[in-house]
Amino acid sequence: MAAGTGRVADRIRRADRPFSGVSPERLAPEIAAIDLERPLHDHAAALDELERVYLRDAVYFHHPRYLAHLNCPVVIPALLGEAVLSAVNSSLDTWDQSAGGTLIERRLIEWTAGRIGFGPAADGVFTSGGSQSNLHALLLAREEARAGASPARLRVITSEAGHFSVRKAANLLGLGPDAVVTVETDADRRMRPAALARELDRCRRAGLVVMAVVATAGTTDFGSIDPLPEIASLCETDGVWLHVDAAYGCGLLVSRRRRHLLDGVERADSVTVDFHKSFFQPVSSSAVLVRDGATLRHAAHHADYLNPRRMAERGIPNQVDKSLQTTRRFDALKLWLTLRVMGPDAVGELFDEVVDRAAASYALVAADPRFEVVTRSPLSTLVFRYLPPEGPGRKLADDANLYAREALAASGEAVVAGTTVDGRHYLKFTLLNPETTLDDIAHVLDLLAGHAQRYVDDLVPLAGPR
Ligand SMILES: Cc1ncc(COP(=O)(O)O)c(C=O)c1O
Repeated sequence: MAAGTGRVADRIRRADRPFSGVSPERLAPEIAAIDLERPLHDHAAALDELERVYLRDAVYFHHPRYLAHLNCPVVIPALLGEAVLSAVNSSLDTWDQSAGGTLIERRLIEWTAGRIGFGPAADGVFTSGGSQSNLHALLLAREEARAGASPARLRVITSEAGHFSVRKAANLLGLGPDAVVTVETDADRRMRPAALARELDRCRRAGLVVMAVVATAGTTDFGSIDPLPEIASLCETDGVWLHVDAAYGCGLLVSRRRRHLLDGVERADSVTVDFHKSFFQPVSSSAVLVRDGATLRHAAHHADYLNPRRMAERGIPNQVDKSLQTTRRFDALKLWLTLRVMGPDAVGELFDEVVDRAAASYALVAADPRFEVVTRSPLSTLVFRYLPPEGPGRKLADDANLYAREALAASGEAVVAGTTVDGRHYLKFTLLNPETTLDDIAHVLDLLAGHAQRYVDDLVPLAGPR
Protein backbone atom coordinates (compact mmCIF):
# COMPACT_ATOMS: atom_id res chain seq x y z
CA MET A 1 0.00 0.00 0.00
CA ALA A 2 2.77 2.41 0.95
CA ALA A 3 4.66 1.66 -2.26
CA GLY A 4 1.51 2.24 -4.31
CA THR A 5 0.75 5.50 -2.51
CA GLY A 6 4.32 6.67 -3.02
CA ARG A 7 4.22 5.84 -6.69
CA VAL A 8 0.96 7.68 -7.35
CA ALA A 9 2.09 10.67 -5.29
CA ASP A 10 5.30 10.77 -7.28
CA ARG A 11 3.41 10.53 -10.59
CA ILE A 12 1.12 13.39 -9.65
CA ARG A 13 4.00 15.51 -8.39
CA ARG A 14 6.05 14.98 -11.55
CA ALA A 15 3.23 15.32 -14.09
CA ASP A 16 4.28 18.19 -16.35
CA ARG A 17 1.14 17.89 -18.46
CA PRO A 18 -2.37 16.63 -17.79
CA PHE A 19 -2.25 13.93 -20.43
CA SER A 20 0.28 12.00 -22.46
CA GLY A 21 -1.82 12.40 -25.61
CA VAL A 22 -1.91 8.62 -26.12
CA SER A 23 -4.44 7.30 -28.63
CA PRO A 24 -6.70 4.29 -28.01
CA GLU A 25 -4.97 2.56 -30.94
CA ARG A 26 -1.57 2.86 -29.25
CA LEU A 27 -2.70 1.89 -25.76
CA ALA A 28 -5.17 -0.92 -26.54
CA PRO A 29 -2.55 -3.48 -27.68
CA GLU A 30 -0.58 -3.02 -24.43
CA ILE A 31 -3.65 -3.82 -22.37
CA ALA A 32 -4.77 -6.62 -24.68
CA ALA A 33 -1.33 -8.24 -24.34
CA ILE A 34 -1.70 -8.73 -20.57
CA ASP A 35 -2.44 -12.38 -19.82
CA LEU A 36 -5.04 -12.30 -17.06
CA GLU A 37 -4.67 -16.03 -16.52
CA ARG A 38 -1.03 -15.59 -15.45
CA PRO A 39 -0.68 -13.53 -12.30
CA LEU A 40 2.56 -11.80 -11.41
CA HIS A 41 2.38 -12.81 -7.72
CA ASP A 42 4.20 -9.65 -6.85
CA HIS A 43 2.87 -6.22 -5.94
CA ALA A 44 5.91 -4.32 -7.16
CA ALA A 45 5.79 -6.04 -10.55
CA ALA A 46 2.04 -5.36 -10.81
CA LEU A 47 2.65 -1.70 -10.04
CA ASP A 48 5.39 -1.55 -12.67
CA GLU A 49 2.94 -2.98 -15.17
CA LEU A 50 0.26 -0.54 -14.01
CA GLU A 51 2.65 2.29 -14.73
CA ARG A 52 2.66 1.19 -18.37
CA VAL A 53 -1.02 0.39 -18.84
CA TYR A 54 -2.55 3.13 -16.73
CA LEU A 55 -0.55 5.62 -14.70
CA ARG A 56 1.73 6.77 -17.51
CA ASP A 57 -1.16 7.79 -19.75
CA ALA A 58 -3.94 8.61 -17.28
CA VAL A 59 -5.65 11.98 -17.46
CA TYR A 60 -4.55 13.99 -14.43
CA PHE A 61 -7.27 16.29 -13.12
CA HIS A 62 -4.76 17.64 -10.61
CA HIS A 63 -2.77 19.28 -13.33
CA PRO A 64 -3.52 23.02 -13.59
CA ARG A 65 -4.00 22.78 -17.36
CA TYR A 66 -6.73 20.16 -17.14
CA LEU A 67 -9.62 22.46 -17.98
CA ALA A 68 -12.14 20.13 -19.58
CA HIS A 69 -15.01 18.49 -17.73
CA LEU A 70 -16.56 18.73 -14.30
CA ASN A 71 -13.74 16.78 -12.67
CA CYS A 72 -11.95 18.06 -9.63
CA PRO A 73 -8.65 17.46 -7.95
CA VAL A 74 -9.35 15.80 -4.62
CA VAL A 75 -8.63 16.97 -1.09
CA ILE A 76 -6.37 14.76 1.01
CA PRO A 77 -8.81 14.04 3.89
CA ALA A 78 -11.24 12.62 1.31
CA LEU A 79 -8.48 10.45 -0.09
CA LEU A 80 -7.82 9.14 3.40
CA GLY A 81 -11.55 8.44 3.70
CA GLU A 82 -11.43 6.55 0.41
CA ALA A 83 -8.67 4.29 1.72
CA VAL A 84 -10.44 3.65 5.02
CA LEU A 85 -13.84 2.94 3.51
CA SER A 86 -12.40 0.51 0.98
CA ALA A 87 -10.33 -1.27 3.61
CA VAL A 88 -13.20 -1.71 6.07
CA ASN A 89 -15.55 -2.29 3.11
CA SER A 90 -18.77 -1.40 4.90
CA SER A 91 -21.91 -1.69 2.84
CA LEU A 92 -24.47 0.94 3.60
CA ASP A 93 -27.56 -0.99 2.66
CA THR A 94 -28.30 -2.21 6.15
CA TRP A 95 -27.39 -1.37 9.69
CA ASP A 96 -26.04 -4.88 10.21
CA GLN A 97 -23.46 -4.29 7.44
CA SER A 98 -22.35 -0.85 8.48
CA ALA A 99 -23.39 0.26 11.97
CA GLY A 100 -21.75 3.67 12.51
CA GLY A 101 -21.40 4.18 8.76
CA THR A 102 -25.17 4.42 8.47
CA LEU A 103 -25.33 7.00 11.23
CA ILE A 104 -22.50 9.04 9.70
CA GLU A 105 -24.25 9.07 6.34
CA ARG A 106 -27.47 10.16 8.04
CA ARG A 107 -25.70 12.99 9.83
CA LEU A 108 -24.24 14.20 6.55
CA ILE A 109 -27.64 14.09 4.85
CA GLU A 110 -29.03 16.10 7.77
CA TRP A 111 -26.13 18.56 7.48
CA THR A 112 -26.59 18.97 3.72
CA ALA A 113 -30.35 19.40 4.13
CA GLY A 114 -29.62 22.10 6.71
CA ARG A 115 -27.31 23.89 4.27
CA ILE A 116 -30.04 23.72 1.63
CA GLY A 117 -32.48 25.23 4.11
CA PHE A 118 -34.84 22.27 4.31
CA GLY A 119 -36.86 21.72 7.48
CA PRO A 120 -36.75 18.81 9.93
CA ALA A 121 -38.83 16.50 7.69
CA ALA A 122 -36.04 16.41 5.09
CA ASP A 123 -34.11 13.28 4.26
CA GLY A 124 -32.05 11.79 1.47
CA VAL A 125 -29.44 9.26 0.59
CA PHE A 126 -25.99 9.11 -0.99
CA THR A 127 -25.90 7.92 -4.60
CA SER A 128 -23.32 7.05 -7.22
CA GLY A 129 -23.57 10.39 -9.03
CA GLY A 130 -25.72 13.16 -10.37
CA SER A 131 -27.35 10.98 -13.00
CA GLN A 132 -28.54 8.54 -10.36
CA SER A 133 -29.63 11.34 -8.05
CA ASN A 134 -31.69 12.86 -10.87
CA LEU A 135 -33.20 9.48 -11.73
CA HIS A 136 -34.06 8.90 -8.09
CA ALA A 137 -35.69 12.31 -7.70
CA LEU A 138 -37.74 11.84 -10.86
CA LEU A 139 -38.85 8.39 -9.71
CA LEU A 140 -40.23 9.97 -6.54
CA ALA A 141 -41.84 12.78 -8.54
CA ARG A 142 -43.46 10.27 -10.89
CA GLU A 143 -44.92 8.31 -7.99
CA GLU A 144 -46.21 11.48 -6.34
CA ALA A 145 -47.83 12.68 -9.57
CA ARG A 146 -49.05 9.47 -11.03
CA ALA A 147 -52.43 9.01 -9.29
CA GLY A 148 -54.28 7.66 -12.28
CA ALA A 149 -52.35 9.48 -15.03
CA SER A 150 -51.05 7.15 -17.72
CA PRO A 151 -47.24 7.34 -18.18
CA ALA A 152 -47.78 8.65 -21.72
CA ARG A 153 -49.43 11.81 -20.34
CA LEU A 154 -46.67 12.61 -17.83
CA ARG A 155 -44.32 15.48 -18.65
CA VAL A 156 -41.05 16.76 -17.20
CA ILE A 157 -40.09 20.33 -17.97
CA THR A 158 -36.50 21.48 -17.94
CA SER A 159 -34.55 24.15 -19.78
CA GLU A 160 -32.72 23.63 -23.04
CA ALA A 161 -29.50 23.82 -21.00
CA GLY A 162 -30.58 21.05 -18.58
CA HIS A 163 -28.48 17.91 -18.22
CA PHE A 164 -29.06 14.97 -20.54
CA SER A 165 -29.53 12.64 -17.57
CA VAL A 166 -33.05 14.09 -17.24
CA ARG A 167 -33.97 12.59 -20.62
CA LYS A 168 -32.24 9.37 -19.75
CA ALA A 169 -34.13 9.16 -16.46
CA ALA A 170 -37.46 9.79 -18.19
CA ASN A 171 -36.67 6.96 -20.56
CA LEU A 172 -35.70 4.60 -17.73
CA LEU A 173 -38.88 5.52 -15.89
CA GLY A 174 -40.95 4.33 -18.81
CA LEU A 175 -42.28 7.73 -19.78
CA GLY A 176 -43.15 8.38 -23.39
CA PRO A 177 -40.69 9.70 -26.00
CA ASP A 178 -42.18 13.21 -25.69
CA ALA A 179 -42.04 13.24 -21.90
CA VAL A 180 -39.26 15.79 -21.52
CA VAL A 181 -40.18 19.25 -22.70
CA THR A 182 -37.47 21.87 -22.86
CA VAL A 183 -38.18 25.54 -22.46
CA GLU A 184 -36.03 28.33 -23.75
CA THR A 185 -33.29 30.12 -21.87
CA ASP A 186 -32.34 33.80 -21.81
CA ALA A 187 -29.07 35.29 -23.06
CA ASP A 188 -27.37 34.09 -19.86
CA ARG A 189 -28.65 30.55 -20.49
CA ARG A 190 -31.06 30.58 -17.54
CA MET A 191 -34.54 29.14 -17.86
CA ARG A 192 -37.07 31.84 -18.76
CA PRO A 193 -39.82 31.75 -16.13
CA ALA A 194 -42.31 33.18 -18.66
CA ALA A 195 -41.56 30.28 -20.99
CA LEU A 196 -42.03 27.85 -18.12
CA ALA A 197 -45.37 29.47 -17.23
CA ARG A 198 -46.48 29.15 -20.86
CA GLU A 199 -45.50 25.49 -20.97
CA LEU A 200 -47.25 24.70 -17.68
CA ASP A 201 -50.35 26.34 -19.07
CA ARG A 202 -50.11 24.53 -22.39
CA CYS A 203 -49.75 21.15 -20.64
CA ARG A 204 -52.71 21.88 -18.38
CA ARG A 205 -54.91 22.77 -21.33
CA ALA A 206 -53.79 19.68 -23.25
CA GLY A 207 -54.70 17.44 -20.30
CA LEU A 208 -51.06 16.53 -19.68
CA VAL A 209 -49.70 16.01 -16.16
CA VAL A 210 -46.46 17.84 -15.39
CA MET A 211 -44.86 15.49 -12.89
CA ALA A 212 -41.76 17.63 -12.34
CA VAL A 213 -39.96 20.78 -13.29
CA VAL A 214 -36.19 20.33 -13.25
CA ALA A 215 -34.32 23.56 -12.61
CA THR A 216 -30.55 23.53 -12.90
CA ALA A 217 -28.25 25.25 -10.44
CA GLY A 218 -25.09 25.16 -12.51
CA THR A 219 -25.70 24.02 -16.08
CA THR A 220 -23.01 21.76 -17.42
CA ASP A 221 -21.99 23.99 -20.30
CA PHE A 222 -22.58 27.50 -19.03
CA GLY A 223 -22.60 27.20 -15.24
CA SER A 224 -25.82 29.19 -15.37
CA ILE A 225 -28.25 29.04 -12.47
CA ASP A 226 -31.95 29.02 -13.28
CA PRO A 227 -34.03 31.67 -11.42
CA LEU A 228 -35.00 29.40 -8.55
CA PRO A 229 -37.43 31.70 -6.66
CA GLU A 230 -39.54 32.45 -9.74
CA ILE A 231 -39.55 28.79 -10.79
CA ALA A 232 -40.45 27.69 -7.25
CA SER A 233 -43.40 30.10 -7.21
CA LEU A 234 -44.74 28.72 -10.49
CA CYS A 235 -44.37 25.14 -9.22
CA GLU A 236 -46.07 25.98 -5.95
CA THR A 237 -49.00 27.60 -7.75
CA ASP A 238 -49.46 24.55 -9.95
CA GLY A 239 -48.64 21.97 -7.28
CA VAL A 240 -45.78 20.60 -9.38
CA TRP A 241 -42.75 18.79 -7.95
CA LEU A 242 -39.65 20.98 -8.26
CA HIS A 243 -36.34 19.21 -8.61
CA VAL A 244 -33.18 21.32 -8.50
CA ASP A 245 -30.21 19.71 -10.20
CA ALA A 246 -27.38 21.30 -8.22
CA ALA A 247 -24.87 18.63 -9.21
CA TYR A 248 -22.41 21.38 -10.15
CA GLY A 249 -23.62 24.39 -8.17
CA CYS A 250 -23.81 22.58 -4.81
CA GLY A 251 -20.39 23.94 -3.88
CA LEU A 252 -22.18 27.24 -3.26
CA LEU A 253 -23.77 25.62 -0.20
CA VAL A 254 -20.45 26.12 1.58
CA SER A 255 -19.41 29.39 -0.05
CA ARG A 256 -19.41 32.35 2.31
CA ARG A 257 -19.39 34.81 -0.58
CA ARG A 258 -21.84 33.25 -3.03
CA ARG A 259 -24.37 31.19 -1.07
CA HIS A 260 -27.08 33.67 -2.11
CA LEU A 261 -26.85 32.42 -5.70
CA LEU A 262 -28.74 29.34 -4.52
CA ASP A 263 -31.55 31.28 -2.85
CA GLY A 264 -34.82 29.50 -3.52
CA VAL A 265 -33.28 26.01 -3.49
CA GLU A 266 -34.95 25.47 -0.10
CA ARG A 267 -38.31 25.55 -1.86
CA ALA A 268 -37.47 22.52 -4.01
CA ASP A 269 -39.02 19.13 -3.40
CA SER A 270 -35.74 17.43 -4.23
CA VAL A 271 -32.15 18.45 -4.86
CA THR A 272 -29.19 16.71 -6.49
CA VAL A 273 -25.76 17.49 -5.05
CA ASP A 274 -22.52 16.09 -6.46
CA PHE A 275 -19.82 16.27 -3.85
CA HIS A 276 -17.52 14.78 -6.49
CA LYS A 277 -17.78 17.96 -8.51
CA SER A 278 -17.61 21.08 -6.37
CA PHE A 279 -16.68 19.64 -2.95
CA PHE A 280 -13.37 18.24 -4.29
CA GLN A 281 -14.29 14.65 -3.44
CA PRO A 282 -13.11 11.55 -5.30
CA VAL A 283 -15.63 9.86 -7.60
CA SER A 284 -18.12 8.79 -6.50
CA SER A 285 -19.90 10.98 -4.00
CA SER A 286 -23.35 12.38 -4.66
CA ALA A 287 -26.66 12.61 -2.85
CA VAL A 288 -30.32 13.20 -3.49
CA LEU A 289 -32.14 15.23 -0.82
CA VAL A 290 -35.89 15.59 -0.40
CA ARG A 291 -37.82 18.21 1.52
CA ASP A 292 -40.29 15.59 2.72
CA GLY A 293 -38.52 12.41 3.77
CA ALA A 294 -41.77 10.43 3.55
CA THR A 295 -41.56 10.57 -0.26
CA LEU A 296 -38.53 8.27 -0.14
CA ARG A 297 -40.93 5.40 0.56
CA HIS A 298 -41.52 5.17 -3.18
CA ALA A 299 -38.12 3.53 -3.57
CA ALA A 300 -38.59 1.12 -0.65
CA HIS A 301 -38.83 -2.63 -1.09
CA HIS A 302 -38.53 -5.21 1.61
CA ALA A 303 -36.70 -8.51 1.25
CA ASP A 304 -36.93 -11.16 3.95
CA TYR A 305 -33.22 -11.88 3.87
CA LEU A 306 -32.13 -8.25 4.12
CA ASN A 307 -34.56 -5.63 5.36
CA PRO A 308 -37.87 -7.22 6.34
CA ARG A 309 -40.67 -4.82 7.05
CA ARG A 310 -40.52 -5.62 10.77
CA MET A 311 -37.07 -4.00 10.91
CA ALA A 312 -38.48 -0.74 9.58
CA GLU A 313 -41.30 -0.98 12.12
CA ARG A 314 -38.71 -1.39 14.89
CA GLY A 315 -36.88 1.70 13.62
CA ILE A 316 -33.72 -0.12 12.51
CA PRO A 317 -31.96 2.33 10.21
CA ASN A 318 -31.55 0.42 6.96
CA GLN A 319 -30.56 2.88 4.26
CA VAL A 320 -31.53 0.37 1.55
CA ASP A 321 -35.13 1.33 2.39
CA LYS A 322 -34.38 4.69 0.75
CA SER A 323 -31.90 3.77 -1.96
CA LEU A 324 -32.05 2.49 -5.53
CA GLN A 325 -28.92 0.47 -4.83
CA THR A 326 -28.47 -2.51 -2.51
CA THR A 327 -24.78 -3.02 -1.73
CA ARG A 328 -23.50 0.54 -1.51
CA ARG A 329 -20.17 2.21 -0.85
CA PHE A 330 -19.62 4.28 2.27
CA ASP A 331 -18.84 7.32 0.10
CA ALA A 332 -20.10 9.58 2.84
CA LEU A 333 -16.94 8.91 4.85
CA LYS A 334 -14.90 11.02 2.43
CA LEU A 335 -17.06 14.06 3.02
CA TRP A 336 -17.09 13.34 6.75
CA LEU A 337 -13.30 13.39 7.01
CA THR A 338 -13.16 16.46 4.78
CA LEU A 339 -15.49 18.35 7.09
CA ARG A 340 -13.76 17.07 10.24
CA VAL A 341 -10.27 17.99 9.02
CA MET A 342 -10.82 21.08 6.86
CA GLY A 343 -14.33 22.25 7.67
CA PRO A 344 -16.98 23.56 5.28
CA ASP A 345 -15.55 27.08 4.95
CA ALA A 346 -12.26 25.74 3.59
CA VAL A 347 -14.10 23.75 0.92
CA GLY A 348 -16.21 26.79 0.06
CA GLU A 349 -13.06 28.90 -0.28
CA LEU A 350 -11.60 26.42 -2.77
CA PHE A 351 -14.77 26.65 -4.84
CA ASP A 352 -14.86 30.44 -4.55
CA GLU A 353 -11.29 30.51 -5.78
CA VAL A 354 -12.11 28.67 -9.02
CA VAL A 355 -15.17 30.86 -9.54
CA ASP A 356 -12.97 33.96 -9.10
CA ARG A 357 -10.49 32.55 -11.59
CA ALA A 358 -13.27 31.87 -14.11
CA ALA A 359 -14.41 35.50 -13.81
CA ALA A 360 -10.86 36.70 -14.47
CA SER A 361 -10.57 34.28 -17.39
CA TYR A 362 -13.79 35.65 -18.84
CA ALA A 363 -12.34 39.16 -18.75
CA LEU A 364 -9.18 37.88 -20.44
CA VAL A 365 -11.00 36.14 -23.29
CA ALA A 366 -13.60 38.88 -23.74
CA ALA A 367 -10.77 41.39 -24.27
CA ASP A 368 -8.93 39.15 -26.73
CA PRO A 369 -9.91 39.83 -30.38
CA ARG A 370 -8.86 36.31 -31.37
CA PHE A 371 -11.84 34.86 -29.53
CA GLU A 372 -15.54 35.32 -29.02
CA VAL A 373 -17.10 34.32 -25.74
CA VAL A 374 -20.70 33.22 -25.17
CA THR A 375 -21.72 34.27 -21.69
CA ARG A 376 -20.32 35.09 -18.29
CA SER A 377 -20.84 32.19 -15.91
CA PRO A 378 -21.70 32.77 -12.25
CA LEU A 379 -19.73 29.54 -11.63
CA SER A 380 -16.56 28.33 -13.28
CA THR A 381 -17.13 27.56 -16.95
CA LEU A 382 -16.10 29.53 -19.98
CA VAL A 383 -17.53 28.83 -23.45
CA PHE A 384 -15.68 30.54 -26.27
CA ARG A 385 -14.37 29.99 -29.78
CA TYR A 386 -11.44 31.01 -31.88
CA LEU A 387 -12.55 33.41 -34.58
CA PRO A 388 -10.32 33.28 -37.66
CA PRO A 389 -9.57 36.75 -39.07
CA GLU A 390 -12.09 38.20 -41.51
CA GLY A 391 -11.73 36.62 -44.93
CA PRO A 392 -12.04 33.17 -46.44
CA GLY A 393 -10.82 31.53 -43.22
CA ARG A 394 -13.78 32.81 -41.21
CA LYS A 395 -16.12 30.17 -42.50
CA LEU A 396 -13.72 27.49 -41.26
CA ALA A 397 -14.30 28.55 -37.66
CA ASP A 398 -16.26 25.44 -36.70
CA ASP A 399 -13.72 22.96 -37.99
CA ALA A 400 -10.79 25.04 -36.76
CA ASN A 401 -12.12 24.93 -33.20
CA LEU A 402 -12.80 21.19 -33.40
CA TYR A 403 -9.29 20.68 -34.71
CA ALA A 404 -7.72 22.90 -32.06
CA ARG A 405 -9.31 20.92 -29.26
CA GLU A 406 -8.13 17.60 -30.65
CA ALA A 407 -4.65 18.83 -31.49
CA LEU A 408 -4.26 20.24 -27.99
CA ALA A 409 -5.34 16.97 -26.38
CA ALA A 410 -3.00 14.99 -28.63
CA SER A 411 -0.11 17.22 -27.56
CA GLY A 412 -1.02 16.59 -23.91
CA GLU A 413 -0.18 20.23 -23.10
CA ALA A 414 -3.71 20.86 -21.88
CA VAL A 415 -7.15 19.29 -22.03
CA VAL A 416 -10.19 21.42 -22.80
CA ALA A 417 -13.80 20.50 -23.58
CA GLY A 418 -16.07 21.43 -26.44
CA THR A 419 -19.75 21.92 -27.01
CA THR A 420 -22.15 23.30 -29.55
CA VAL A 421 -24.05 26.53 -29.10
CA ASP A 422 -26.82 27.37 -31.56
CA GLY A 423 -25.40 24.74 -33.90
CA ARG A 424 -21.82 26.03 -33.82
CA HIS A 425 -18.75 24.41 -32.31
CA TYR A 426 -17.29 26.09 -29.26
CA LEU A 427 -14.51 25.35 -26.82
CA LYS A 428 -15.10 25.10 -23.11
CA PHE A 429 -13.05 25.49 -19.97
CA THR A 430 -14.43 24.09 -16.74
CA LEU A 431 -12.27 25.35 -13.91
CA LEU A 432 -12.27 23.21 -10.79
CA ASN A 433 -8.62 23.34 -9.83
CA PRO A 434 -7.68 26.19 -7.50
CA GLU A 435 -4.08 25.78 -8.67
CA THR A 436 -4.93 26.82 -12.22
CA THR A 437 -3.52 30.33 -12.66
CA LEU A 438 -4.45 33.05 -15.08
CA ASP A 439 -1.08 32.42 -16.73
CA ASP A 440 -2.15 28.83 -17.35
CA ILE A 441 -5.33 30.13 -18.97
CA ALA A 442 -3.44 32.63 -21.13
CA HIS A 443 -0.98 29.93 -22.20
CA VAL A 444 -3.78 27.52 -23.19
CA LEU A 445 -5.53 30.27 -25.14
CA ASP A 446 -2.33 30.88 -27.10
CA LEU A 447 -1.96 27.16 -27.81
CA LEU A 448 -5.58 26.92 -29.00
CA ALA A 449 -5.26 29.98 -31.21
CA GLY A 450 -2.05 28.54 -32.68
CA HIS A 451 -3.63 25.17 -33.51
CA ALA A 452 -6.81 26.74 -34.91
CA GLN A 453 -4.95 29.23 -37.08
CA ARG A 454 -2.59 26.55 -38.39
CA TYR A 455 -5.67 24.61 -39.49
CA VAL A 456 -7.01 27.65 -41.30
CA ASP A 457 -3.63 28.43 -42.86
CA ASP A 458 -3.33 24.88 -44.17
CA LEU A 459 -6.71 25.02 -45.84
CA VAL A 460 -6.72 28.62 -47.00
CA PRO A 461 -3.20 29.45 -48.06
CA LEU A 462 -4.34 32.96 -48.97
CA ALA A 463 -5.63 33.65 -45.49
CA GLY A 464 -2.05 33.82 -44.19
CA PRO A 465 -0.98 34.04 -40.58
CA ARG A 466 -2.56 36.62 -38.29
C1 LIG B 1 -25.90 19.61 -14.17
C2 LIG B 1 -25.49 18.17 -14.12
N1 LIG B 1 -26.36 17.27 -13.67
C3 LIG B 1 -26.07 15.96 -13.61
C4 LIG B 1 -24.83 15.50 -14.00
C5 LIG B 1 -24.52 14.04 -13.95
O1 LIG B 1 -23.66 13.77 -12.90
P1 LIG B 1 -22.79 12.45 -12.86
O2 LIG B 1 -21.79 12.57 -13.95
O3 LIG B 1 -22.21 12.45 -11.49
O4 LIG B 1 -23.72 11.29 -13.08
C6 LIG B 1 -23.88 16.42 -14.47
C7 LIG B 1 -22.56 15.94 -14.91
O5 LIG B 1 -21.75 16.66 -15.41
C8 LIG B 1 -24.22 17.79 -14.52
O6 LIG B 1 -23.35 18.69 -14.97
